[in-house]
Amino acid sequence: MRATARAQPNIALIKYWGKRDSGRNLPAVGSISVTLDELFTTMNVELDSSLYLDELQVNGRSVPSLLPRVTRCLDAVLGADRLCARVISESNFPIAAGLASSASSFAALVVAASAAGGGDRSTSELAALAGQASGSAARSLYGGFVELRNEGDGIAVGTILESEAWPLRVIAAVTSTAPKPVSSGAAMEASRKTSPFYSRWVEEQDIDLSIARDAIAARDFGKLASIAEHNCLKMHSVMWASRPPVVYWNAATLACLERVRELQADGVSAFFTIDAGPQVKVICLSGNEPQVVEALSNTPGVESVLASGIGAGAVLVNVD
Ligand code: PMV
Repeated sequence: MRATARAQPNIALIKYWGKRDSGRNLPAVGSISVTLDELFTTMNVELDSSLYLDELQVNGRSVPSLLPRVTRCLDAVLGADRLCARVISESNFPIAAGLASSASSFAALVVAASAAGGGDRSTSELAALAGQASGSAARSLYGGFVELRNEGDGIAVGTILESEAWPLRVIAAVTSTAPKPVSSGAAMEASRKTSPFYSRWVEEQDIDLSIARDAIAARDFGKLASIAEHNCLKMHSVMWASRPPVVYWNAATLACLERVRELQADGVSAFFTIDAGPQVKVICLSGNEPQVVEALSNTPGVESVLASGIGAGAVLVNVD
C-alpha cells in the first residue's frame, strides 16, 4: 500500500498555452518538450486506513494549500472511494518558480499512487491522468524529446527522439524564487478570453510543431533554436496582450536574453526559452555549456544557475 516514484521536470520547446476543455484540462494545442535529467522530484504515496484526510508534505513541510489538487489527482487515479493517503514529495530544485515542478510532481504522483493502489496502468493512461492535473506533467512520463498531440477526445504523448541521440544541455538561470503572481491555468484562461492574439497562436501551432519535429529528427540546432525562440516569444506576446496583462518577466529575464544574443553573435550554439515564470532556460550543445553557465552566472539579477542533461521519463522506484 506504499510506493515511491521519481520524475523529472520537462521544458517545452514548442509551448502548451491554452485549454480546449478547462473542465478536463485538455490543451488547445500540441507541444514538444525535453525531459530533464539531473533535476527530479521523488514522491512517496502511502494509503493508510487510519487516516481521515489526505496529508501532504513538500520538502519537509506540510503544505495545505497544495492539498486539494493532490487529492483530486489521487481520486482520478484511485477512485473517490479510496483510502486516504500520506504523500511525501521531495524536489532537488526550487518549487513553484517556473521550473516545471508541477510537471515532475504530478508525473511522479500518478506513478506512485497507481502502484500503491495495486494498479497496472499503461504509461499512456498515466500520462492522461497526469495531464488532467497539470497539462505539462503528461510529458514527464516520457524521456528524451517528447511530443504531446491532441487526439480525438484526449491526448497522445510519446518520445520522438531518445536523449542519447542528441544530448543537448539545458541551463536554467533562476532570477527569482518568489511564487508566481498568477497561476499558469488562470493566465491561460485570461489569454483565451481576452488576448487578441490567442486565436492566431492556436492556428499557427501546427506549423511550429512540424518545423520543430523536422529539426529534431535532423538534429538541426539552428532550425530548432529559431522556431523555439519564436514560439516562446509568441506565447508571451499572447499573455502580454491579455487584459489584465500577464507579464512573468523581470529585469534579469531580459538581461539573460541579451546575454544569449551576445553568445549567439560569438558563435555559441545556444537558444533561450521562458515558461510561466521569470527564469530563462538556455538550451545548448554540450561543448558550449561552460560559456553559457559563465555568461548567465555573471548576469545581474541571476540568483543561481542549474544545469541538466536530457533524461528519462518517470519511473517507479519501489512498492511495499
Ligand atoms: O502544466 P501547466 O498547467 O503548469 O502549464 C505549463 C505551461 C508552460 O510551462 C508555460 C508551457 C509548457 O508547455 O510547459
